[in-house]
Amino acid sequence: MKLQPLSPLFGTRIEDVDLSQDLDNDTFAAIEKAYNARSVILFRNQKITDAQHVRFSRRLGELEIHVLREFVKPVHPELYVLSNIVENGKPIGIKDAGNYWHTDLSYTKVPSRGSIMYSIEVPHKDGVPLGDTQFASTAAAYNALSETMKQKLAGLKAVHRFWDRYLRERKAAGSDVVISDERRAQTPDVVQPVIRTHPFTGQKCIYVNEGFTVGIVDMPEDESRDLLKELYAHCTRPEFTYRHKWQVGDVVMWDNCATLHRATVDFALPQRRLMQRTTLKGTEVF
Ligand code: OGA
Ligand code: MN
Repeated sequence: MKLQPLSPLFGTRIEDVDLSQDLDNDTFAAIEKAYNARSVILFRNQKITDAQHVRFSRRLGELEIHVLREFVKPVHPELYVLSNIVENGKPIGIKDAGNYWHTDLSYTKVPSRGSIMYSIEVPHKDGVPLGDTQFASTAAAYNALSETMKQKLAGLKAVHRFWDRYLRERKAAGSDVVISDERRAQTPDVVQPVIRTHPFTGQKCIYVNEGFTVGIVDMPEDESRDLLKELYAHCTRPEFTYRHKWQVGDVVMWDNCATLHRATVDFALPQRRLMQRTTLKGTEVF
């Protein structure tokens, strides 16, 4: 197994692993170790079935079934489909799963540990892939904070909320979707620490994101807005980011504690994009 950095501070490409196989324990342990340490792992040229995608993901623990049930696969509901493809008048997946910096499920009490995304169709223009995914290391960003800032942030908490962003995005995309109170009640606001500790490495990470964080608890509105803005800008400084250009057959696993990510929506039909991902269950944030 060969490991190569994707960027200086985080991200690793692993070669010579075939995810369609039932991996032996040593190989799997080496992958998990790299994943925890490097936050984003890339495997290229994979060819996996739905069942194999789920089987590999299950090695990392239990899986989530996404709250947007219309975009999960019927036979394997652990697989959430991201696509702009429409079949029989119906979208087969979520069209833009996050054109803004976020971490998955930060708006739930126990957010997901990470996701494992498999690319099946990648849009292109003039031979250049479109629909890149950017990642930012909130661990590297934390390490680079001044001591004063680290102290200021320690103990602060922030509110995270799902539907605000979801509705804003859908409306911007021309949708007139309405969310029932019942559905809204499935994802009430949650409060998370602004600095969280990685459950496997103990590394401290900045845990706010422009997607779902709506404010800092017990802080005046404008002060909270300014502080969040400063943190978002800090986390996404070029030296803490990696931009992934997709190839068909890529499997990318990311860590939702130690990274933020953002989709790039720079393509449209007939340029087709089809991805599917599993979502790893996480543990209580601390
Ligand atoms: C996701 C996500 C980004 C992308 O699946 O959670 O944000 O580029 N995807 O599709
Ligand atoms: Mn996401």
